[in-house]
Amino acid sequence: MRDQIDPSDRWAAGRIANRTDDVRMWKTQLLKWVGAKQRFAHDIIAAFPPRFGTYHEPFLGAGGVLGVLAPKRAEAADSFAPLIGVWQALRDEPATLAGWYRDRWEAAEAGGWAAEYDRVKARFNAGRTPADLIYLSRAAYGGVIRFRRRDGHMSTPAGSHRPIHPDKFAARVAAWHARVQGTNFHARDYAESFARARGGDVIYCDPPYSGSQSILYGAQGFDLDDLLARIARAKRRGVFVALSLDGARASGAAPEARALPPGLFEREVPITLGASMLKRFQMGGQSLAGERVVDRLLLTHDIRT
Ligand SMILES: C[S@@+](CC[C@H](N)C(=O)[O-])C[C@H]1O[C@@H](n2cnc3c(N)ncnc32)[C@H](O)[C@@H]1O
Repeated sequence: MRDQIDPSDRWAAGRIANRTDDVRMWKTQLLKWVGAKQRFAHDIIAAFPPRFGTYHEPFLGAGGVLGVLAPKRAEAADSFAPLIGVWQALRDEPATLAGWYRDRWEAAEAGGWAAEYDRVKARFNAGRTPADLIYLSRAAYGGVIRFRRRDGHMSTPAGSHRPIHPDKFAARVAAWHARVQGTNFHARDYAESFARARGGDVIYCDPPYSGSQSILYGAQGFDLDDLLARIARAKRRGVFVALSLDGARASGAAPEARALPPGLFEREVPITLGASMLKRFQMGGQSLAGERVVDRLLLTHDIRT
């Protein structure tokens, strides 16, 4: 009888909450964030089981995959607390979130974009509120929230673009609000998120790139081996884990070309990311045509077999 179970449906026993067969492309962005995966979310989700229990996203960032999946039941987390404050406001107080952005945008329109950006940045460095973070994410150069090594201060200069109009932002908040109603948001380390996943669930991991993101939040001291050990334990409990890793650059070295534990991943799907935002930023805004990046999506189970 076992042979007759469709292997792609192994996660459908019991507490089914989510399905992937009705997921459509969706490009409306809320936050700007380095490494945001929304453009590739459809390809990433296509590798998940068609039906499963709870969806877990321990390295949420701008939630590109969460937004496209719009899960019925999910646990989403990030260790950067002000960012989780933005997500909690999106879910529970969307008008407040839209208002935070509008207040700062209008102050900038009235008093000068550069001066208001610097004011918001200084206030964020003193108080780390989600209200200031949401504006910085839209107004910072390249949408890169980076931190100075010396004192941990957010140090990105203002972007040269005009941040999105508050009416348009409010419309995005409304669209995203509807998509996160099944999700609980937590400010916590990924270790705690892993401990909460049960058999039949899916975890999607998009950790900071240990090779190139040391100026970004949480990338310093991030230990990929610890994450791999937790993935192995989750797999043994019957959790399906998908892991995005910074893959080969067409132009040079592969930062994550390291040996992975044998047998941990049964399948790998290449995801083409296009020109690297971060690299562009580090090069002072020059466009690097041809600097194509391919992310690796590693899967603990091959559900096609
Ligand atoms: C590559 S980004 C995720 C991007 C996301 N997939 C998106 O679409 O925007 C990695 C995220 O991991 C978070 N992070 C870093 N260290 C962490 C840790 N130890 N536990 C949980 N989150 C962490 C960072 O704050 C950052 O938001």
